[in-house]
Amino acid sequence: MNQNQLKQQVALAALEVIRDQLYKDTIIGIGTGSTANFFIDALAELKFDFDGAVASSEASAERLRAHDIPVYDLNSVGQIPFYIDGADEVNARLQMIKGGGAALTREKLVAACSDQFICIADESKRVSVLGDFPLPIEVLPMARSYVGRELVKLGADPQWREGVKTDNGNLIIDCYNFMLDDPLALEQRINQITGVVCNGIFAQRPADLLLLGTAQGVETIH
Ligand code: 5RP
Repeated sequence: MNQNQLKQQVALAALEVIRDQLYKDTIIGIGTGSTANFFIDALAELKFDFDGAVASSEASAERLRAHDIPVYDLNSVGQIPFYIDGADEVNARLQMIKGGGAALTREKLVAACSDQFICIADESKRVSVLGDFPLPIEVLPMARSYVGRELVKLGADPQWREGVKTDNGNLIIDCYNFMLDDPLALEQRINQITGVVCNGIFAQRPADLLLLGTAQGVETIH
């Protein structure tokens, strides 16, 4: 199986996890990226079984609407039962690096509002220690240079993702060479830098369930 087939396999597995837990008033949290896209396309099959979705990006919202799945503003819904999203890296504690698609802030926000975060990923995303994938950080445009200097002091090699603007109108800095042996501490430390909107470490709110696509089938990890 190639990587896209593994992504599709876990998207279908996620559909099976939620299928029996959908009610007419259920709102589902939907992530961003190619794995989330496979999930959105699969979800269309069940669109009459739930109310609608909240999306972590304009791109996902557009894809949901193309399937005639209603998309709600997060402010108009309460706590939601599930958030289904991919990851750039995930460790055995289900902590993740996310934000390769620049949607990290809304992803973290929808995840925070969700009872269950179901991470769907192909096996290339499984790591023992987070950090090979450059850590994305969303910053206010006028803070880019200052935040970059502060990140250097923390030992990182920050690089501005030029030409990318987030759905929130901000910029992305990708950090290479971060020591990520304590993801929770680093997540909190980066959040303290003025001008940082969000960082792509998901340790404070890790996933609750990981569906990992492997050549041998889908592994379910709690
Ligand atoms: C977007 C994300 C994605 O979940 C992450 O980049 C994984 O993407 P893909 O499913 O395309 O491999 O965090 O901001």
